[in-house]
Amino acid sequence: MAFLIVALLPLLARGDTAPSPTLKARLAQDDECSARSDDCALEALQRRTGTTQSADALLQEISTALGSDDGLLVRVGAPYDGPPSNSGVSASALRRDLPLALYVFKKRADVMGQILQPGKVGVRCAYPFDGNSNTRQDDEGHRDKCGKTKPMVASEAGIKMSGSCSFSSAEEFAQAYFNKPQNTDFSTSGWWELDSASCHFQNVPDAIAAQKALLKLSRSLPPDTTSAEWLRNASRVGFALTAFNEVITAPFGNSEVAALFWAHAGPFRDPVANDTSACSLADFLSKARDLGKDTYPIVEIAGAALERPFPGCDTKTEDPPSSVPGIYATNPTCLQSFLGEWEETLQGGGYSPAKHFRTLGADQQQTNWPWIIVLCKTGL
Ligand SMILES: *[C@@H]1O[C@H](CO)[C@@H](O)[C@H](O)[C@H]1NC(C)=O
Ligand SMILES: *[C@@H]1O[C@H](CO)[C@@H](O)[C@H](O)[C@H]1NC(C)=O
Repeated sequence: MAFLIVALLPLLARGDTAPSPTLKARLAQDDECSARSDDCALEALQRRTGTTQSADALLQEISTALGSDDGLLVRVGAPYDGPPSNSGVSASALRRDLPLALYVFKKRADVMGQILQPGKVGVRCAYPFDGNSNTRQDDEGHRDKCGKTKPMVASEAGIKMSGSCSFSSAEEFAQAYFNKPQNTDFSTSGWWELDSASCHFQNVPDAIAAQKALLKLSRSLPPDTTSAEWLRNASRVGFALTAFNEVITAPFGNSEVAALFWAHAGPFRDPVANDTSACSLADFLSKARDLGKDTYPIVEIAGAALERPFPGCDTKTEDPPSSVPGIYATNPTCLQSFLGEWEETLQGGGYSPAKHFRTLGADQQQTNWPWIIVLCKTGL
């Protein structure tokens, strides 16, 4: 760090790389910087621009994983939220040829979570979409995220289809699940129960192949289905399409975590006071620092899809409220436009990791965002 500050000082003297006025204004509000001015501001700037060697190495590792068959495993949620469950931990595999989507239930402005060390965490099973894994059990009725769906949670047909997948190709999976099975238990108008009925694959590449095949097929209409019906079936939150997949990992520890991430939908930007997840992350890091614990580098993920099923779908309960529980997309074009954009990106070889991932500082010993705490507390 000292080296970089010294290296930057001559530039500063020439007026080339002074902190931006907005950054300076913020740092002036920061307890840590108000008394110490430019050196402190520069140090924070350097931390945030992530120019250390380890930050570059981390980005390289992320980029390589995003281009690999197994992808990059990430997990949305607080950094240490209890001991790992023996039945597995839900994560998602990110890959350049998939939508850059993270687990959410309701639409979110930002989320935080963990990036797992590529190749270090075991995979128990993988679902192409959300697998509603909390409502699954093994043959003895014990909770098992890689088991079959419990009785009553889905239709009989759906429960039968859950469990281990036995398809010979990804296209076969897509055909078997395209708007099927339909649950008509509580209504004459059925709904698609993809999530609870989904079978699981043994590995990530097979699940991703199935995910891509069904996403591609979803651009067309299922047999005897109008586009309005298809939109309602496909967008029902908790039941149908998701832009993310669900990978059940073996339990893992803190040393298998490569970094913490902060993700939001827009282009790279500074966090603001109303970024709830950025504030929790900053809070976590500051507590870890106070306890003298190692913290992790922070990775910012920009342009993430943080809405179900897709950004802009604007899912709401139908008005007047439908007798069928659940919510549907009110934007009739969101399905086609999201999938269309994804296929276009795919034809260009997938998204560029550099456009979506950057490190905000990789110094393991320090809180990377000391100044954000001030923003969060004062609502600046
Ligand atoms: C879902 O699709 C099925 C099959 O086309 C259709 O009968 C049903 O009405 C649709 N459900 C909704 C809620 O529109
Ligand atoms: C958060 O604050 C920014 C301005 O600082 C504002 O543009 C944005 O709309 C706010 N977002 C929410 C969800 O309130």
